[in-house]
Amino acid sequence: MRIFSGIQPTGRKHLGNYIGAITQYVAGQDRGEAIYCIVDLHATTVPYEPADLREKTYDTAAILLAARLDPARCIFFRQGDVPEHTELTWLLCSVTSWGELNRMHQFKDKAGAQRELVSAGLFLYPVLQAADVLAYRADEVPVGDDQRQHIELMRDIAGRFNARFGDTLVVPEHRIPAVGARIMDLQEPARKMSTTGGSEQGTVYVLDEPKAIEKKVKSAVTDSGSEVVRGPDKPGISNLIEILSVVRGVPMEAIEAEFASARYGEFKAAVADAITGYLAPVRERYAAIRADEAALEATLEAGAAKARAIAAATLAD
Ligand code: TRP
Repeated sequence: MRIFSGIQPTGRKHLGNYIGAITQYVAGQDRGEAIYCIVDLHATTVPYEPADLREKTYDTAAILLAARLDPARCIFFRQGDVPEHTELTWLLCSVTSWGELNRMHQFKDKAGAQRELVSAGLFLYPVLQAADVLAYRADEVPVGDDQRQHIELMRDIAGRFNARFGDTLVVPEHRIPAVGARIMDLQEPARKMSTTGGSEQGTVYVLDEPKAIEKKVKSAVTDSGSEVVRGPDKPGISNLIEILSVVRGVPMEAIEAEFASARYGEFKAAVADAITGYLAPVRERYAAIRADEAALEATLEAGAAKARAIAAATLAD
C-alpha cells in the first residue's frame, strides 16, 4: 500500500497539526510505503518572498524529521525538486473542467481574501495537488477533512484520465485522521486550533518553550461548573481532556476518573506538564536538525531522487 501526503511549508506547526497530521505521517511509515512532500510550489500561489519560503521549507523539514520521519523508511522531499509534478499538472488540466475548479471552496475563500493578485496558480492549485498524488499512483492520502473537496476532485480527474486514455492512474482514497481534527483553540474552544485565524494565546506551537505552554494552558478558557468531565456545555474542559488523553495515550474515561475530585487548576497543571513533556524532545531535536542546513538540503535532495524515479515512470506511461 502506498501513502502520499503533502504538507505546507508554514514554519509554525501547532499541536493540532502535530497530533492530527504529523504523528499520522510517522505512523504511515509502518503501515506502507510512505511518500511525503513539502509543497513549496503550492506556497507560490499566494504572494511570497523567495528567501522566506526557502527558510520555511527548511523549518518544516526540520520539524518533520524531529518528529521522527525517517528518510530511510519513507521518501521525504521538496515538491519543487521534482519537475514531474508540474508536467503532470499540465497534462491533467486537459481532463479538469474550469467549472469544477471554480467551485472549490478553498479557491473562493483565498481569492476573496486576496488583496493583491488572484493568481492563475491559485486557481490551478487543486490540479497540482492531484498531480502530487497521482504521479506516485498512491492508494491513500492522509490529510484533514478540510481537503475533502480537493481529494474528490483528484479522484474525478484520475477516473476521467483513465476513461479517456486507458488505465494509467490509481484513484486514491482519502484517509481523515481520527484525532487531532478535534483539537480546539484554547481560548475559543468552538473553533479548531489553527495557524490562520486562531488566537495566539489559544494556539500551542510545537516549538513553544515550556513556560509559554504553561501560560497558554493555565489561561485556557474553562466552563461553568467545577468537574473535569466532558459534555456539550463544557467545550473548554472537553478539549483539555481530549488533549491529555491523546498526549498520554490513554482513553478519555481514564482521564475523567483520575481527575474526578480535582479542581480545574490542578487539572490544567497536569495538562500543561503532559504537553510540555510530549513536545520537549521534538523541540530539542529540532534545534539540532535545523542548525545544519547542508544536511537538510542533502536529505531533501536524496528524497527527490527517489521520488523522481517513481514519478518519471508514471509520466513515461
Ligand atoms: N492542500 C494541502 C493542504 O493545504 C497540501 C497538499 C498539497 C497535499 N499537495 C498535497 C495534501 C497532496 C495531500 C496530498 O493541506
